[in-house]
Amino acid sequence: MKAALYIDKHFPIGEVDKRIFGSFVEHLGRSVYEGVYQPESPFADEQGMRKDVIDLVSELNVPVIRYPGGNFVSGYHWEDGVGPKEERPARVEPAWSVIESNQFGLNEFVDWTKKVNAEPMMAVNLGTRGPEDAKNLLEYCNIPRGSYYSDLRRKHGWEQPHNIKLWCLGNEMDGPWQMGHKTAEEYGRIAAETGRMMKMLDPEVELVACGSSSLYMDTFGQWEDIVLSESYDYVDYVSLHQYYDNEANNTPDFLASTVAMDKFINQVVAICDAVKAKKRKDKTINLSFDEWNVWYHSKEHDSKLERWIQAPHQLEDVYNMEDALLVGSMLITLLRHADRVKIACLAQLVNVIAPIMTSDTGAWRQTIYYPFAYASRYGRGTVLNTVIDVPTYPSKHGDAPYLDAVCIIGEDEESLTVFAVNKNLEDAMELSCSLREFEGYTVKEHIVLTHADLKAENTEANPNNVIPTADGNAAVEDGTLKASLPARSFNVIRLGK
Ligand code: AHR
Repeated sequence: MKAALYIDKHFPIGEVDKRIFGSFVEHLGRSVYEGVYQPESPFADEQGMRKDVIDLVSELNVPVIRYPGGNFVSGYHWEDGVGPKEERPARVEPAWSVIESNQFGLNEFVDWTKKVNAEPMMAVNLGTRGPEDAKNLLEYCNIPRGSYYSDLRRKHGWEQPHNIKLWCLGNEMDGPWQMGHKTAEEYGRIAAETGRMMKMLDPEVELVACGSSSLYMDTFGQWEDIVLSESYDYVDYVSLHQYYDNEANNTPDFLASTVAMDKFINQVVAICDAVKAKKRKDKTINLSFDEWNVWYHSKEHDSKLERWIQAPHQLEDVYNMEDALLVGSMLITLLRHADRVKIACLAQLVNVIAPIMTSDTGAWRQTIYYPFAYASRYGRGTVLNTVIDVPTYPSKHGDAPYLDAVCIIGEDEESLTVFAVNKNLEDAMELSCSLREFEGYTVKEHIVLTHADLKAENTEANPNNVIPTADGNAAVEDGTLKASLPARSFNVIRLGK
């Protein structure tokens, strides 16, 4: 099969906001306990944080990390997780039917983000709580001193304010499963009033309003319209969440999920702009795709879990080769919308639907780790409008191109990177791309992630089963980039002068 890419330096889509390579740590399963924090582990540092996880997260290059939930945040009292550890209460946690010990909380999280070189993206509880608690939390975090909550933080040992600038106004408030679930009108009002109060306290904060929990919610569209109509002046982003699965074991359909993801993004952009026009505003609302991933492998196991225990093995999807292909495609889709998607969080980061897994004896990289790591490392700069000429195949999401690809001029303006996923399961794809505006560029590296078995996984016993190799054959011939992309492969082609 043949495919051609067409790019022009003068037709950029936009600058990549590095926050699209964000991720997510929720108090859920073994994400915090045994993932981020495990004081009794031989891998723990002086604060009880796992050093092996810190190393893998740092290598993954995650500039922003959302916390503490997720569904968890909608019943959370942040005060339970600060102050002397021996005085912190254990609570029932209804979202995931577990016991939360509160031995890890806000201050520990902020310290941990510094160790992994990331900024926190905090969520406030707009499920069972409201504007008053959000104000108190912001005061605790961002006011330097001289008030009840800022002095409480200092008393707890954090003299300097955390200065957290990115905040989510609740989580999935459209979802009937959510504690404190609301109608669009109810949520729109509370988001507006909470946002207004938070910006009174700290005008520099950026706020994310909850959009729909997926494209398939019955309220999708109307929800965004009403919420933004109520809160437009006080929020900066609207969220999107989407998980895909291959429960039907139909790999071509599964890999075509990015057709639906692309549609989801376009539709949310359209609604944001419609509200903007209706309100005659200059301000533009951008998108925060703050939960995205593959999620289904663990669902049967989780339906049988014992209730009210601490840190169970929950949502521990073991990812395979085809999941890595879709994650690579989803990253390409986010990059292709760099003009409007400014924040995105791979959900999640450690142990829970995660690229990184831990056990008592170590930590390892799942298959999906690799496309994310490469996209975050080399996907910074200016995204070019990348026109793709390739055959399509019919799927449940509509006609799907066999190739997903995007080209990015690096921040140094001297490099050009092509990310490409060949979704043809049988044949290699012969790719060409004229480099008429990139004279003197040669291929520095062609990295390939593929495996003969689409169901191949990385496990504790076999952590290097699916790993990238730098043995791709991309080359520049007579001013044209030529490469053979193996069947079912994720590719990174790096060019430079
Ligand atoms: O990431 C797992 C869960 O998925 C989150 O808690 C929730 O927001 C979403 O439904």
